[in-house]
Amino acid sequence: MTDHGVDTRIVALPRGGVRAPGSAGPDARAIDAGPLAGLAEGSMRRVTHGDLDVLVAHTPDGLVAIDDRCPHMSAPLSIGELDGCVVACPLHEGRFDLCSGEVVQMPTTGGLDADGEYHPTWSPVGREPKVDPPGTKAEARRLTRVRRLRYYPVRVVDGRIEVDVPA
Ligand code: FES
Repeated sequence: MTDHGVDTRIVALPRGGVRAPGSAGPDARAIDAGPLAGLAEGSMRRVTHGDLDVLVAHTPDGLVAIDDRCPHMSAPLSIGELDGCVVACPLHEGRFDLCSGEVVQMPTTGGLDADGEYHPTWSPVGREPKVDPPGTKAEARRLTRVRRLRYYPVRVVDGRIEVDVPA
């Protein structure tokens, strides 16, 4: 599908993700997320509404809108790097597939995945392993769960991107 000659494919709610609470039905309202023309494939945009920050990304599979908060420890994914469908978080090396909702790479801090399975800490090649002294900090890392990505309905109307968010 195209809108003013620009590809307007939308990524449907992927199996690995969940609908953002309040973003559908009578509890939702549409907000303007700027012109589609300014969001070339491979780029991302942060849209703020009240205290909600939404990331709109233009992937090879189409547009997608999720919380602009890493599902690990809430860093803004909009300042990470988008490679195809995969966004890399600016902290802890976590990588997430926006088109499937799946975790591609767990954060270096390890912790729990969305199903509650534990993953150990790890270090990128060439970097010294980070030794976690036992204590509350290590316990917090171990118990931090990487949540499922939260998706917002997104569409293109007359060349502008609209995202449904909680009213
Ligand atoms: S905050 Fe994103 S990987 Fe940790």
